[in-house]
Amino acid sequence: MPGDEIGAFRRLLTPEGQRLLASLPPYDAASALSAAEAARRAGHEESLVATALTQSRLRARAVRKFGAQASSLYFTPDGLEQATRPVVAARRAQRFADAGVRRVADLCCGVGGDLPHLAAAAGNGAVGVDRDPLTCAVAAANLEVLGVAERVEIRCAEAAAADLAGIDGVFLDPARRGSRGRTFDPAAYSPPYSFVLELAERVPASAAKLAPGIPHAVLPRGAEAEWVSVDGDLVECAVWFGPLASGVPRRATILPAAATLTGDGTVRAAGGPVGRYLYEPDAAVIRAGLVADVATQLGGHLLDPTIAYVTGDTRANSPFATGYEVLDVLPFSLKRLRTLLRARDVGRLTIKKRGSAIEPETLRRQLRLAGSAEATIVVTRLAGAPTVLVVDPLRDR
Ligand SMILES: C[S@@+](CC[C@H](N)C(=O)[O-])C[C@H]1O[C@@H](n2cnc3c(N)ncnc32)[C@H](O)[C@@H]1O
Repeated sequence: MPGDEIGAFRRLLTPEGQRLLASLPPYDAASALSAAEAARRAGHEESLVATALTQSRLRARAVRKFGAQASSLYFTPDGLEQATRPVVAARRAQRFADAGVRRVADLCCGVGGDLPHLAAAAGNGAVGVDRDPLTCAVAAANLEVLGVAERVEIRCAEAAAADLAGIDGVFLDPARRGSRGRTFDPAAYSPPYSFVLELAERVPASAAKLAPGIPHAVLPRGAEAEWVSVDGDLVECAVWFGPLASGVPRRATILPAAATLTGDGTVRAAGGPVGRYLYEPDAAVIRAGLVADVATQLGGHLLDPTIAYVTGDTRANSPFATGYEVLDVLPFSLKRLRTLLRARDVGRLTIKKRGSAIEPETLRRQLRLAGSAEATIVVTRLAGAPTVLVVDPLRDR
């Protein structure tokens, strides 16, 4: 029952709930039952104990996204899963502030991954809208924890019904999961992608967070699409409209390095011979279609015109690609590869692949390596032919 869930969550915010939450040991699935038992013996009611334990479990899971802050924030399972990481949210909010936005509406605010950052950055604060009452209660609690509650008005409502009077900037992060799980169809987002486009007509300073796999063809002309990765994981495609857009259609942003690369996706790079170095572009660069731009920056070319590996003879440190020194290049043959790796006493093998149907774990089993050395191989295609490169990661100099 949603009402019961909200009641239970509110009890967690009472002094008794807070004492209970603080008294729980760091979450560990193996000891959760005994922790619950101890809390009940201490006189806490069953439902409060269950709510506190759920929160403790979610906080433990949230550390990956929210770091140390996770231990004081509140989550729902879906809210945590969909929440924007702080490093991304802070950058986004800064962009609203830089464009001179004074009051932002976050029309699908969730548990508040973006909202506190938007509220802190916009001079006149923010309005957070979400149609789910428990999510709104959790967002409100998080704003208190973060000390920005006074700068935010939370409304539990449909995004489409939100009154935008006094709002000069809108952010929209539609839910991409329905009753049947995750959806990749922008028309099935809630609210749908068409609503994002309508909003951008009504409030020019609009931005939306979309799935990184959004087809380029649906991105509107004049807007900027920014693919963002955090620690190498591709996390979103943000679309910026009106005064929030920079004028370039595509951007790849690498966080936490805060390196950003722009282009229009028209640069082409030829394929060519394997050079001394191999570069694997960041996932944000690949999705933004800016691999050829990185090849140009690195003074290299593509390993194969259809595959996102760059090669060249110049050694470079780039935030946009991971570099390797190429040690060997051989046509793909299990037998030859096994012989070569065994001759080098390899036991621990990192397998990278692109443009190959090979399953790394199957290949690892087939290689039956038992040595003590470590190696990295890249399984790919070279001018269409299955090829293996033995490489060594470039260390910073
Ligand atoms: C992807 S989450 C937002 C995450 C948020 N940006 C964050 O960082 O925490 C989407 C949210 O939109 C809400 N939602 C879905 N459809 C909605 C609609 N039509 N109107 C208002 N809220 C909606 C969901 O309840 C969910 O909390």
